[in-house]
Amino acid sequence: MTATALPRVLVVGLGLIGASFAKALRLSQSAHVLGMDAAPGVAERALELGIIDEVVADTDRVPPFDVLLIAVPVLAMRSVLADFKPHLTERTVISDVGSVKGVVVEAAREVLGALPAGFVPGHPIAGAERSGVEAAKSDLFDRHMLILTPLPSSSNDAVATLTKLWQAVGAEVVTMPVARHDEVLAATSHLPHLLAFSLVDTLARESENREIFRYAAGGFRDFTRIAASDPTMWHDIFLANGEATLGILRKFQADLDELAQAIEHHQGDRLLDVFGRAKSARDYFTQILQSRQRHGDDVRKNLITAPMHRGLSGTLSLPGDKSISHRAVILAALAEGESHIRGFGEGDDNRTTLEALRKLGVDIQDDDSGEVRVTGHGLKGLRQADSPLYMGCSGTSMRLLAGVLAAQGFASELIGDASLSQRPMDRIQKPLETMGARLELTPRGTAPILIRPVDSLHSIDYELPMASAQVKSAVLLAALCAGVPARMKEPTISRNHTERLLAGLGCDIDTRDGWLSFTPPKRLPALDLDIPGDFSLAAFHMAAATLVPGSDIRLDGIGVNPTRTGFLDILLDMGGSVEVLNEREQGGEPVADLRVRYAPLGAGVYGTDYSGRTIDEFPVLFVLAARAEGETRIEGVRELRYKETDRLKRMIEGLTVLGADIELKGDDVIIRGRADRRFDGGIVDCAGDHRVALAFMVAAQVASRPVIIRHSGRVLGAYPGFAEHASRLGYSVTVED
Ligand code: S3P
Repeated sequence: MTATALPRVLVVGLGLIGASFAKALRLSQSAHVLGMDAAPGVAERALELGIIDEVVADTDRVPPFDVLLIAVPVLAMRSVLADFKPHLTERTVISDVGSVKGVVVEAAREVLGALPAGFVPGHPIAGAERSGVEAAKSDLFDRHMLILTPLPSSSNDAVATLTKLWQAVGAEVVTMPVARHDEVLAATSHLPHLLAFSLVDTLARESENREIFRYAAGGFRDFTRIAASDPTMWHDIFLANGEATLGILRKFQADLDELAQAIEHHQGDRLLDVFGRAKSARDYFTQILQSRQRHGDDVRKNLITAPMHRGLSGTLSLPGDKSISHRAVILAALAEGESHIRGFGEGDDNRTTLEALRKLGVDIQDDDSGEVRVTGHGLKGLRQADSPLYMGCSGTSMRLLAGVLAAQGFASELIGDASLSQRPMDRIQKPLETMGARLELTPRGTAPILIRPVDSLHSIDYELPMASAQVKSAVLLAALCAGVPARMKEPTISRNHTERLLAGLGCDIDTRDGWLSFTPPKRLPALDLDIPGDFSLAAFHMAAATLVPGSDIRLDGIGVNPTRTGFLDILLDMGGSVEVLNEREQGGEPVADLRVRYAPLGAGVYGTDYSGRTIDEFPVLFVLAARAEGETRIEGVRELRYKETDRLKRMIEGLTVLGADIELKGDDVIIRGRADRRFDGGIVDCAGDHRVALAFMVAAQVASRPVIIRHSGRVLGAYPGFAEHASRLGYSVTVED
């Protein structure tokens, strides 16, 4: 980048896509936007409309730029690259927006010779039927996917720069290989456009046929909307992606022929078969779209807080523990007979697991009150789902169910939202494949996960490279379903809810010398379970009550399993005031009521032996450490990078905005805390991660001015009853769009 504060982004081609990108980028104030267009007057018009900051009139006089975004039809890409070749430096980032990636890479190779490190092809999955600079829409990419297809030659810096720019215009950035992109787009975009163009043309060709458009209503309109798209652009796309499009077109032609024959021979059953399958696939697709829409709407909301003037007070019971809830319904689905579960978590992630189990043929009654009845059909009683299983942003759902499904003898596909699709899934692939399962992931080791059927699995002895209850549980569940023993060792202990539940159901579970040994039973009896309150949610209230002077709260029926309570131990060590009352056992888990009062804190050093037991509470612990007098060191926090967001990055950025002194040294976080200093006010971003949002909310209670926590509305889905609980304890927080 040049030394100026903002990167200089040159957009070549100010049609709908290029101009919309320029407009949104300029509005986001994250770049200085230069624009150029081959057609006379277009760039000048873009300047008039406030879409760009500066016109580049011709390729002989090009001012310096850091990023070149080529937004011309795919077949024109070659000549633009040739024109700009003399202006490219080693550090220029180059990308495009073409709908086909293979030809763009070929063109770049021919024109530029060796592919530069700054070159990363891209494709926004967004558009409108209107074209041209006047049609530019600043929200065109908002919540739309942007696919980057990094090449082996692409540098990480270039990928990061482009990711930032596209995120600034609202896009969700995902990456995939070039060939996969072209295949996926041939099926999901190019073929439908071909069909729409062709159908409208067939009907419109003869002049008397135009009459029928007067009668064409919903179906025709829905099906052919995209036939109004730009012909030149689509001409280019089909020529550029001929092979992949022809592949899927031929398949479609064969299926269409079969339908024609079925009609001709009055084979109603065959028609019903196809229509039934299609309806169920489309219904499923609608469900994913709606859930994305809902989550997207939630993510966009902000939490707004004002400084508190009095302490928190009151008594709360919290939703059932999320980790135990996932496991309880999964085991109930694999058990025999009717299980009764009370205190089910009911948050979005827990519901994701419930819905997936329903799609796998499990009968589940659930009335939103936390009472769930599950009728299990045994360890081999699941049914193959008729479409991919959508896991939203729930890593636990995906990893645990992958363990179950790896041992089912039928194929499954697990997909997730943009956040989950970035998270490492190779950590379960490795042990499951060691057991003989077959899992296919993307080349980056991420979802979608395709599970191929295998006849049987074999036993495993495995040392986990990281403490992870999800990996451990995936292996235990695979071993359970396959009827094979498993032995595992973790570098430090992670939550042991799966082990406790299995032991409670009479399974042979043993821990000795740091090794966990499991011998599976032949069958699993039904569960009758009361799930304790969620310790990880309790931690936020414990932290807030500790920080806000005058606070005195009570949290009843909270799970205090020692593999989860690293946060409590650290808080007590720092001088926190927590009374652990009425300790008892519930459903094989230790439970207690927690009374928490305001207390000034001191700093401490906490080693890696805390990591597995504190993993979800680290964000809020950083907040506490920033208000504890002295230097706190928290070791081994690397795993935070692989959660719903990169929690390390988000917390360090946000706490720095709020005036905290926090830095990362290797895998450790160092926080120089000041007990006498309130946090500053400001705007922080939690990128849709509810634990980061709640950690900032806690900090905001002791800030000197209001704090806006952007993209934090997922708190609502992740913590049922959040708004009511917050007002009951007396937080100063509102949820706004
Ligand atoms: C969980 C395990 C942890 C934790 C997550 C829930 C579980 O993840 O962060 O919120 O229920 O097993 P890892 O196993 O990836 O550490």
